[in-house]
Amino acid sequence: MSASQQAVMRSHRLTPEQVPETVVEQLAPVEREALVARIKRLLEQENATLVAHYYTDSALQELADATGGYVSDSLDMARFGSECPSDTLVVAGVRFMGETAKILNPEKRILMPDLGADCSLDIGCPPEEFSDFCDQHPDRTVVVYANTSAAVKARADWMVTSSIGLDVARHLTERGEKILWAPDKHLGRYIQEQTGADMILWDGACVVHEAFKAEGLAVLLQEHPGAKVLVHPESPAAVIEMADVVGSTTQLIQAVAELDADTFIVATDNGIFHRMRQAAPGKTLLEAPTAGRGATCVSCAHCPWMAMNGLRNLAAVLESGINEIQVDPAIAERARVPIARLLEFARSHKREVLGNNDA
Ligand code: 13P
Ligand code: SF4
Repeated sequence: MSASQQAVMRSHRLTPEQVPETVVEQLAPVEREALVARIKRLLEQENATLVAHYYTDSALQELADATGGYVSDSLDMARFGSECPSDTLVVAGVRFMGETAKILNPEKRILMPDLGADCSLDIGCPPEEFSDFCDQHPDRTVVVYANTSAAVKARADWMVTSSIGLDVARHLTERGEKILWAPDKHLGRYIQEQTGADMILWDGACVVHEAFKAEGLAVLLQEHPGAKVLVHPESPAAVIEMADVVGSTTQLIQAVAELDADTFIVATDNGIFHRMRQAAPGKTLLEAPTAGRGATCVSCAHCPWMAMNGLRNLAAVLESGINEIQVDPAIAERARVPIARLLEFARSHKREVLGNNDA
């Protein structure tokens, strides 16, 4: 990144008070079984489908799998929500995922187990300040990460997720467009380095991924010399540099299943281990270190907001209908444009990659 590009980076760091403690729901086996049975009944009764992110508790992922729901990354959750015929979607994840589902499906009822399930990237990108930033760079195409509020998306030309950010940046660069990127600076820098795109970056970060430490990772690699390193691109550059694979949650799960190695060191939220174990039983999975010299981790490889989703509050929202996601219709209409543009790009890009018209 050039010095002038560095200079226009806006700094929006979170204070520790804005990050809740990670509290994982603890249930006795009897209560867990009773809740699972109750939720299954309620999903049927309400014609509702459960869509969960890979970072949520394994009990929620198992429930989604067992009830015809869906477990995936943020791009595929959005895609599934639009294709699913149910009247109600229950989104177990963080708020931007529920908002995206509502924006794409305004006629559906979208419920979330906890409306306080935020995201540090979303919190660190307030819509008004972001809008000012855009105003200062009217010559740039505004590309925002999915992890933003509906109001921020409403100001964007494109939305991307980590699974497709590189492809969109290459596409825009081929068209001679310069990019204003927000909010994750690590992902932005990674995209810029990989594609050579002309980008200026908002200074946001994910508190979970930013805590991974390259020094600790080097020590762990010495202890496990044959291990492959899998890294989500919200991690710091020094950690990304040590990766064998950098990718979205789905891409990292595929890597565990496909790569010829027995041991993997994984730099992303440890909720993903549930799916990785299913995809590659018998392989050894190690958490990338967040501790060590200079350790700053507050959530230590588990997103505090993802952990707000549990069986108890899932049952409660299905029973009472509370925690429905609402998005101002005028904002939703504008925010739909960058999301729909991405979904259409993903469809046609997949066709291009597969070389046929049926994908
Ligand atoms: P994915 O798009 O890879 O699922 O990532 C979402 C996210 O919040 C990562 O921290
Ligand atoms: Fe947001 Fe980070 Fe949590 Fe993902 S892991 S939802 S980016 S805070």
